[in-house]
Amino acid sequence: MERIPTGRPSWNQEMRSAAMAVLDSKRWVKGAQGRAFGEAFASHCGALSATPCQNGSSALWAALRIANIGPGDEVIVPSYTFISTATCILLVGATPVFVDVEPDYFCLDMNAVQNAITPATKGVIGVHLFGQPYDPNLLRLCQQHGLTLIEDAAQAHGATQQFADGTKRTAGSMGDIGCFSFFPSKNMAVGGEGGMLTTTLPAYTAKISGITNHGRSPDLEAMELGSNLRMSEVSAAIGLEQLKQLDQWVERRRTIAALYIEAIEQNPFLQPPKVRPGAEHAWHQFCVHTPAPEALVAHFDRLGIDARRYYTVPIHEQAVFTHHPQHDTALQVTNTLGATLVAIPVMHELTQGEIQRVVQALNEFKVA
Ligand SMILES: Cc1ncc(COP(=O)(O)O)c(C=O)c1O
Repeated sequence: MERIPTGRPSWNQEMRSAAMAVLDSKRWVKGAQGRAFGEAFASHCGALSATPCQNGSSALWAALRIANIGPGDEVIVPSYTFISTATCILLVGATPVFVDVEPDYFCLDMNAVQNAITPATKGVIGVHLFGQPYDPNLLRLCQQHGLTLIEDAAQAHGATQQFADGTKRTAGSMGDIGCFSFFPSKNMAVGGEGGMLTTTLPAYTAKISGITNHGRSPDLEAMELGSNLRMSEVSAAIGLEQLKQLDQWVERRRTIAALYIEAIEQNPFLQPPKVRPGAEHAWHQFCVHTPAPEALVAHFDRLGIDARRYYTVPIHEQAVFTHHPQHDTALQVTNTLGATLVAIPVMHELTQGEIQRVVQALNEFKVA
């Protein structure tokens, strides 16, 4: 029986043809594909503009630069997330301030954010972790305190959230600047490394285009510090094709997640993840709570299914943050999630047979 991985990117004839057409044209950089991909992505997520870039990590670095965040500034960030959510802050010379996350939804805890705001706070990086949107009140809190809200949407293509004013927003338009990753395991990909910068603010659109192009004006004078963060035309062409499928793929993930939740609810050794009221989860990862995570990973492994634990060492406790003032501070929920969550395969490419195998594995799991 074939092993079931936790991620499997989609690839079809349309994507292959789009990539080959760009290669044949020899217009490999700075062309119509990048512009079209940006326009289509902005329209999909309801942002004012979207700019393709090299990857999610450089998008985060660029977002901080665009918000003018640097030495002396503090940025509030979760510790239960992918490493570059926090290291991008060090890369611009600012200080990350780590706060705890919500036990049910795994995103920034609003009270913790509020308590961490000081006169030096300049921004917040909220993460839609595993595809679950962060608390929509975060935007209002940031606006009240004059803070830039950077949306780490690297895991959340297609997630939506109802806001208090009744509007439904899609990841990429829930903050001031949105950062996406197209790493091959993500909900959509570009045939290599890739990222996207989105914004809801008119003043940021030109800044994003500048910073991803050496900070140059149209007449090529460098007006500010930037770099070459551009996406290749081949990747943009593949991304355009993938984007056409995104809604359908995310819907499929939701269907699979619903089946898993049903199975988990019957098993006393497991607890399902919760979905925030008003949210449509994008299920980049499906993480199940268990008091015996290693046993669950081993059980899945015996059945030929990959399962993995996430963020078991909180970011602020990692060696790169040895000299950070919070290095030895415990964040209780962050620790608990790291010690109890296990991600199981939920990608849209799963076949019916594979889904059945995962459901059966969930049904059969027991703690001795
Ligand atoms: C939450 C989060 N932020 C940022 C990134 C960085 O994206 P990339 O790998 O494209 O640099 C990732 C990628 O895994 C991520 O999951």
